[in-house]
Amino acid sequence: ILKMLRETNGYISGQEICEKFGVSRTAVWKVIRQLQEEGYKVEAVRNRGYHMVEIPDLLTKEELESCMHTEWAGRKIVCCQVTDSTNLRVKQLGDEGAPAGTLVVAEEQTAGRGRRGRSWDSPAGTGIFMSILLRPEVAPDKASMLTLVMACSVAEGLKQSLRQEESICSKIQIKWPNDIVINGKKICGILTEMSAQFDYINHIVIGIGINVHNESFPEELQDHAGSLLLECGKRVHRADLIEAFLEEFERLYAIYLQTEDLSALQEEYDQLLVNRGRQVRVLDPKEPFEGKAMGITKKGELIVDTWESRKLVSSGEVSVRGIYGYV
Ligand code: BTN
Repeated sequence: ILKMLRETNGYISGQEICEKFGVSRTAVWKVIRQLQEEGYKVEAVRNRGYHMVEIPDLLTKEELESCMHTEWAGRKIVCCQVTDSTNLRVKQLGDEGAPAGTLVVAEEQTAGRGRRGRSWDSPAGTGIFMSILLRPEVAPDKASMLTLVMACSVAEGLKQSLRQEESICSKIQIKWPNDIVINGKKICGILTEMSAQFDYINHIVIGIGINVHNESFPEELQDHAGSLLLECGKRVHRADLIEAFLEEFERLYAIYLQTEDLSALQEEYDQLLVNRGRQVRVLDPKEPFEGKAMGITKKGELIVDTWESRKLVSSGEVSVRGIYGYV
């Protein structure tokens, strides 16, 4: 019923809903009441029927399922009010044999995890904390590229969702390898984890954390963290955003699977790369160096030209900063 209401521009008659689901008018009315209690603004007009006026920013299974148009990504959804980490939940489901595309979304994480053993601040209602399960039939050494595929998908999904705000769209960029930045502030982080044997991937979990409605950040994060609200001045509907970037992910993942590398995505990625053409500092634990970031290779390495040679930087080993700050 929610999906029908969402997809109908004008009014939909109670009779039509009754016939579609083979239920009584009272049953339909009960559902409408329940939706209204959850925050959906549904207008009921005698002789015309029902009309969806406003959709609340909920991350419930019903809300997500009613806006999903993907083929396989996010077709099985688990929603939690609170969980420790959605990556851990998806890993568990993966070990139990859940299908590729299984999605876990949480309103709050109590032990959100970031890259390099860091934590990921995940207070209730502020963001998108979600993880998706993949089972690609590629060699384990090809898996790290998926994190760049997801970064591209999130950036493109965001552009789709904010397409009315042209001035903002051009500011949505990727800081290599997979942070999404707007105005140089990190608004999204991605954590990819793999369960594999020597030559075979059991499954991959890609976790995505997006700062959506945060109005401020703890002091230690203030200079480089941002949220969609702070950077765009807009409250984005989280379920629509998830739908938009999962659709993009299906498109880009299919391209990646054809070549098992990023050769067909390099250009799209480079267009989004905030570091491109800029001086960067590569924090290599063996020997830090500076150079100009030129783009990525088909394996997802960052190409950095130093005064003496061209170097290829792999994401596992090092982190990259701008000369004067985070980007
Ligand atoms: C980073 O350090 O930039 C990556 C952050 C990834 C955070 C997300 S939030 C959803 C998923 N669950 C986790 O525990 N981490 C990822």
